[in-house]
Amino acid sequence: MAGPFYLGLDIGTQSTKGVVIDPASRGIVARASVSHGLIEGLAPGAAEQHPHTWWESVCEVVGHLHSQGTFDPKALAGIGVSGQQHGFVALDANDRVLRPAKLWCDTTCAEEAEELSRELGRTIPAGFTAPKILWMKRHEPELFARLHTVLLPHDYINFRLTGTKTMEAGDASGTGLFDVVERRFDAPSMATIEAGLSDRFPRLGEVGEPAGALQPCAAEELALQSGIRVAPGGGDNMMSAIGSGATRRGIGVLSLGTSATIFAYSDRPIVDPDGAIAAFCDSTGAWLPLLCVMNATGVIEEVASAYRGQHDLNSLTRAARDVPLGCDGILLLPFLQGERVPNLPHARGVLLNISPGTLSPGHLFRAALEGTALNLAWGFERLRKLGIELEDLRVVGGGSKNELWLAILCDAIGVPVQRLAEPESAALGGALQARWVCERGAGACASIDEIANDFVSLAGTPIRPVAARRRAYGELLERFRVETRRNFASAV
Ligand code: XUL
Repeated sequence: MAGPFYLGLDIGTQSTKGVVIDPASRGIVARASVSHGLIEGLAPGAAEQHPHTWWESVCEVVGHLHSQGTFDPKALAGIGVSGQQHGFVALDANDRVLRPAKLWCDTTCAEEAEELSRELGRTIPAGFTAPKILWMKRHEPELFARLHTVLLPHDYINFRLTGTKTMEAGDASGTGLFDVVERRFDAPSMATIEAGLSDRFPRLGEVGEPAGALQPCAAEELALQSGIRVAPGGGDNMMSAIGSGATRRGIGVLSLGTSATIFAYSDRPIVDPDGAIAAFCDSTGAWLPLLCVMNATGVIEEVASAYRGQHDLNSLTRAARDVPLGCDGILLLPFLQGERVPNLPHARGVLLNISPGTLSPGHLFRAALEGTALNLAWGFERLRKLGIELEDLRVVGGGSKNELWLAILCDAIGVPVQRLAEPESAALGGALQARWVCERGAGACASIDEIANDFVSLAGTPIRPVAARRRAYGELLERFRVETRRNFASAV
């Protein structure tokens, strides 16, 4: 129980996770997770959570970590927070939360996104923060008049921890109001939403600059020492990059969660002229070109829920394994809740080419695995065209447990995939960034890449693409593209 220990927290869409690491033993000494859902009964397309829910879940997670008795809280030296990207946290002049946060998967502001894309001359997906701010101005003018500070989910938790409002470049680049190349706020774009909007954004911290120190009231609530460092943290994908060792060229991450993302470290900004690949900064001073699709584990769970009581995920996966590649002709366009890439916020899923015998549980489950994999493979081609070459993809997130899905993804994408020993890579990234920030503060000079790659380890053996299956998925991908365009005229 010597320490120092570092705490990483990840505020996700479905749960908040926490890990405590012990760098001396290169191990995770405590872990905990608390579920939280979306607010129910909202308009179609709305996805909201109250920031207070996140803080309550942080307190609960830290309580669970303490109860494991595996680390000395007095030896906990720093905290790093990861959070779902893009959510719009609106505070008034007294720092009170004005309304629940609209999340990355909220598509109610699709019109505002289209309008901003036209005005700014670049793609602003509905999931980004900018359209949510414009939506509030349009739909809730009284609240908008009281808007004093714009924060992102992880910034809000940093604020509760430190009492200081800041942003850092990684998460800030997901607002759509950020100059990714120059790594600074884009005040002219902000002004297209509202004159003076830039004054409602907090200060942007430097790379590796702490967000602040744990304030006494938060320290009391969390039973931790006040004054310990709180790292800048970042968006969940940025922190997952750290927790996966994607802090150097050639290493990509495939994250299979509520959203699925593929991203890679880049030492230069990558701006996609079509806007399909998000041009993000990372949270270590570099960049993180990223593909995000909204339909991932949710599609798998949706099919599984149709068979609740008769089948579980394991038996469905076994049944899907017995169905041949290509699913006897059925094809699922998996856009159950609209999609970001391709940009189809109002789309719904389509099941094509049903023939006798192809509505079996195994067929439908395989169609979900293949459809989601093909959509990711389509997006991945765009990443490749932008010059991102990957030696391997490290797979993280809840969906990475499904071997069959991984094999299908590997053949569809055409890059070896391998799991990480620690699938909660975003929470781990928070803890590793906290270590980096604390050690830098004490004068040490290990880079974040050294710190991350010293700790991160791979699990099992890599899954490699098989040439014949790769060709077959290539043909299916062509069909997937044609059918998407046929069914959704606006798909490019
Ligand atoms: C990425 C994105 C999602 C969320 C999920 O742009 O919107 O991956 O970060 O939490």
